[in-house]
Amino acid sequence: MEEKIVVTGGKPLQGKIKVSNAKNAVLPILIASLLGDGESKILDVPHLTDVDTTCSVLQHLGQEVARQNGHIMIRTVEPTSFEAPYQYVRRMRASFLLLGPLLARYGRAKIPLPGGCAIGSRPINLHLKGLEALGAKVNLEHGHVEANCRRLKGAQIYLDFPSVGATENLMMAASLAKGQTIIENAAEEPEIVDLANYLNAMGARVKGAGTPIIKIEGVKELLGTTHTPIPDRIEAGSYMVAAAATKSDLTIENVIAEHLKPVISKLKEMGVQVDEHESSLRIRPGEEELKAVDIKTLPYPGFPTDMQAQMMALNCICKGTGVVTETVFENRFMHVDELKRMGAKIKVESRSAIIEGVKNLSGAPVKATDLRAGAALIIAALSTEASTEIGALEHIDRGYDNIVGKLQEVGASIERIG
Ligand code: EPZ
Repeated sequence: MEEKIVVTGGKPLQGKIKVSNAKNAVLPILIASLLGDGESKILDVPHLTDVDTTCSVLQHLGQEVARQNGHIMIRTVEPTSFEAPYQYVRRMRASFLLLGPLLARYGRAKIPLPGGCAIGSRPINLHLKGLEALGAKVNLEHGHVEANCRRLKGAQIYLDFPSVGATENLMMAASLAKGQTIIENAAEEPEIVDLANYLNAMGARVKGAGTPIIKIEGVKELLGTTHTPIPDRIEAGSYMVAAAATKSDLTIENVIAEHLKPVISKLKEMGVQVDEHESSLRIRPGEEELKAVDIKTLPYPGFPTDMQAQMMALNCICKGTGVVTETVFENRFMHVDELKRMGAKIKVESRSAIIEGVKNLSGAPVKATDLRAGAALIIAALSTEASTEIGALEHIDRGYDNIVGKLQEVGASIERIG
């Protein structure tokens, strides 16, 4: 029988919930370990299927990967293969980040084209354009990118869009290139800064990560090191919204509030009370009924697209009408039809969804259509007294570490069956 999450909501959560470290920092960092000689140790890594896939693809390339007590040790050796199997790239697009490190360290790589996914066509043109500027010969044939180079050479690269993945791939490649690389209009996400900190701890010379201009002085070699990734701001944001949707007094631990500024500001605009502490946030209900807000997703430090679905679910039960505009991905409204099955009133017009708030949602059997859509459905289900069954859990398992267990600990009636 297909596994399902069953939720009976309509009651406040209470207590403390601890956030794991960030999926979107851990994946590029595990892949970047390929650049360093010797062993890297990545501490407190969340239990996610995307982490498992990354470890499998590194092992497929012949790297020694060991896991112990939530830590991952990678001892890099001369790869036995320079080709990432399609089954991994199809499962997890971030595998495409192998291209930069393999090229920079070994001068060759063959990676299947990731293709589109539920949220958009997801092209990789900016990755390839940047690597060609660094001197790589790139060939697209039979659904693969095959790239070769002697030693990459530093270059000035302007990104047409501040792509997270392209910034990460080029930052890693430039770390071992000859000379200086400047990446302009770079992505500024906290996960980019975390990757740069890991690279610099291995001996790289990356400056300006977290700003639109990143400067990298290439070095001859990097050495494995130990690193603890940053907390997961999207997991934290998901629990903040769950607390607001259930009128809870909930403390979320292992959080960097600075990383969640746009989410905090929108929740306050709705009427939620948010208290910031050193490494935690306390969410409490406001005096009045929550009111719907307008949201427009943008690259960091704008409102994160990875929080769009969760905030849409909350808007569904707020007073008034809110408009959610998705500018980063062209097809990230797959959760709308599932929320409508639960009684939400949503109309989609091109890249905007107009949400008219209702008093209560009703329970229904629904399916996660992608990772964050899955989180939005759990939030919607927690907000209603009715019982809801959520399927297609493979999406949720990619990015939420023990979400059912963590919510049970703060009093949610939620279980995984099947
Ligand atoms: C990262 O994906 C995250 N994934 C995504 O999180 C997140 O939604 C996204 O950044 C935006 O914040 C990881 O970090 C593993 P992009 P990435 O390159 O790197 C276009 C989640 O839920 N583009 O910044 O793939 C692209 O089509 C996931 O955890 C090009 O046109 O995102 C998209 O519209 C989902 N050409 C936009 O840029 C390129 O060469 C943003 O993509 C590259 C991207």
